[in-house]
Amino acid sequence: MTVTIDKKLFIATFGCQMNDRDTEIMAQLLSRSYARTLELAEADAVIVNTCSIRAKAEQKAFSLLGVLRKYKKKKPEMIIAATGCVAQQDGRKMISRMNHIDLVIGPQNIYQLPLLFDKIRKTRKTTVATDISPSFSIPPFLPTMDCGLPHKRFVTIMQGCNNFCTYCIVPYVRGRELSRSQEDIVAEVRHLVSHGVKEITLLGQNVNSYGNDQEESQRTSFAELLCSVAEIRGVERLRFTTSNPKDLSDDLIRCFVDLDNLCSHFHLPVQSGSNSILRRMNRKYTIETYLDKVEKLKEVRPDIALTTDIIVGFPGETDEDFQATMDLLEKVRYHGSFSFIYSSRPPAKSCEFEDTISQEEKKERLAIYQAHQKEITMERNLEYVGQTMEIMVEGESRNAEGQWSGRISTHHIVNFTCAKPLVPGRMLMVHIDEACYNSLRGTLVDG
Ligand code: SAH
Ligand code: SF4
Ligand code: F3S
Repeated sequence: MTVTIDKKLFIATFGCQMNDRDTEIMAQLLSRSYARTLELAEADAVIVNTCSIRAKAEQKAFSLLGVLRKYKKKKPEMIIAATGCVAQQDGRKMISRMNHIDLVIGPQNIYQLPLLFDKIRKTRKTTVATDISPSFSIPPFLPTMDCGLPHKRFVTIMQGCNNFCTYCIVPYVRGRELSRSQEDIVAEVRHLVSHGVKEITLLGQNVNSYGNDQEESQRTSFAELLCSVAEIRGVERLRFTTSNPKDLSDDLIRCFVDLDNLCSHFHLPVQSGSNSILRRMNRKYTIETYLDKVEKLKEVRPDIALTTDIIVGFPGETDEDFQATMDLLEKVRYHGSFSFIYSSRPPAKSCEFEDTISQEEKKERLAIYQAHQKEITMERNLEYVGQTMEIMVEGESRNAEGQWSGRISTHHIVNFTCAKPLVPGRMLMVHIDEACYNSLRGTLVDG
């Protein structure tokens, strides 16, 4: 018997890769009843996967949820669900603010989606499912294979965060650190590669502290986990994100010597170049220890690309503190960075700190930082010109036939021309001819 799937599901995803992965899981959990659509107008159900890391991210989610009111008016049977970190934080409050929402569901509860959707369809009762249970464990989720897998895939290795950096909302909305078992992770990766996946990215808010919550007798460190995933046949490229530098161990640095398929990219968020700001952020490392780790990484993998996150305008940031961040940029010469103006996120602790810098000043500092990073990124990109490098094919450009893109191990995008069809995930050699701000341009070698 063939089952026809006549309902359509629209999912909007804000925030980090944790949300991206949850979106994949939700789509798969509902795939027996709903096909994905990119057209809001034809959706029978809409899920808004929200992020609350900065005020702007939260506003974006609320504004989309606001727009959905008029869609629901036209199609009253439409199910509207909110998940992600705003949903976890606000719970029922979200429904009192927007009564066209049917379901508010926390990231830990998404596995109940099929059941809750069924209930809502039958009863039309608004539902809130945001319990965080101390005994929760991530289900050994093996993706269904009927929709064809892309060449790269995220695998969640842990949820939550214990660090309580003073500016950050994550520990309040994602709960305490919870590591998946090594067996579950390895089984999931094996399953993925046996179905053609070539690149795996291990995901967590702070992957370096993987295993710290496990019982001592069964504890696996992140470096050990990385080794066991790297040796699975078929894992051509292995990446991970994100890492708090305080937990970056020598064993992990050693992985960059031992594991050939571990990519030459490290996203190592520093947040500030000033020790006094780092102390007040509760980051638990100093610039000196950070730079020490950066040096070690560059020593063992000279081609490693380093990227970072920066917050400017943290409460009380002086001109000297900001200058220290600019000096750090010059010292590390990051290949790229994400930089943000500090955003106050209650109940995070820094909301109580005295903030004397005007918003104008913060914007100015951000612009100065970003302009300098842009220059360095360009100089870094120019270093690749003239080299022949291996890329993994990503796909064909949507705008122009015969135009393809791929990524080198460092995560840089390379655009190139190829008249023949290529399969995403294929490895090819390209000669890099040109550098742009956001990508490189190359020519296929023997293509
Ligand atoms: N777990 C990662 C960070 C995840 S959040 C780590 O510890 O490095 C992603 C980035 O958002 C952070 O690195 C930080 O730069 C930024 N961010 C977090 N809270 C913020 C806030 N309140 N205001 C501005 N930027 C913030
Ligand atoms: Fe937030 Fe700090 Fe945890 Fe990263 S390590 S998620 S910045 S509390
Ligand atoms: Fe945002 Fe939550 Fe990720 S706050 S950055 S979606 S963990």
